[in-house]
Amino acid sequence: MLDLSDIYLYLEEHLSHKRYTHSKNVADLAEALARHYGCDERKARLAGLIHDCSKEEKYDDLVYYARESGFPVDQESYKIPEVLHGPASVYVSKAVFGINDEEILSAVRYHVTGRESMTLMEKIIFIADYIEPSRKFEGIEEIRALAYNDLDSALLYALDLTILYVIEKKGLLHHDTVSARNFLIGNVTQI
Ligand SMILES: [Fe+2]
Ligand SMILES: [Fe+2]
Repeated sequence: MLDLSDIYLYLEEHLSHKRYTHSKNVADLAEALARHYGCDERKARLAGLIHDCSKEEKYDDLVYYARESGFPVDQESYKIPEVLHGPASVYVSKAVFGINDEEILSAVRYHVTGRESMTLMEKIIFIADYIEPSRKFEGIEEIRALAYNDLDSALLYALDLTILYVIEKKGLLHHDTVSARNFLIGNVTQI
């Protein structure tokens, strides 16, 4: 694996200042959530740091990276450019950073859409990305309050907000987000 200092350098060079700060915030929060929930803190921190590493690449590169990610990417994803940086960031993580840990890579892969039956690491990265300190939107305080008490309820709340947001802007809703949400409905007793 590339030295951590070189990963920071890569991110600084490939991301805007705002997104670089966001990535460091997600790493901090992911580490704290991992500690709280008994997940691997080092892996959570690294997954949080690199989750958006390809986000500012152009569409054609995202398509190529996503295809080469080693994860399945359905046709629907190519019609929703926002979701492509999930699998595309897996490719950069492997090819540039030399990271091959499946737990880290799947959390990066599914941080945009979620999916049915998410792992603890996937949930932690999804939520850390959603509520890191620089994020501001209506409903965020409710999710922040839930994050350390009931991760599934926090996730369900976040997925509901994502779905409402996509519908509001009349965008394409990725089916993995619906699957993630419907799967959780069965697990969460109250919200
Ligand atoms: Fe992202
Ligand atoms: Fe992000």
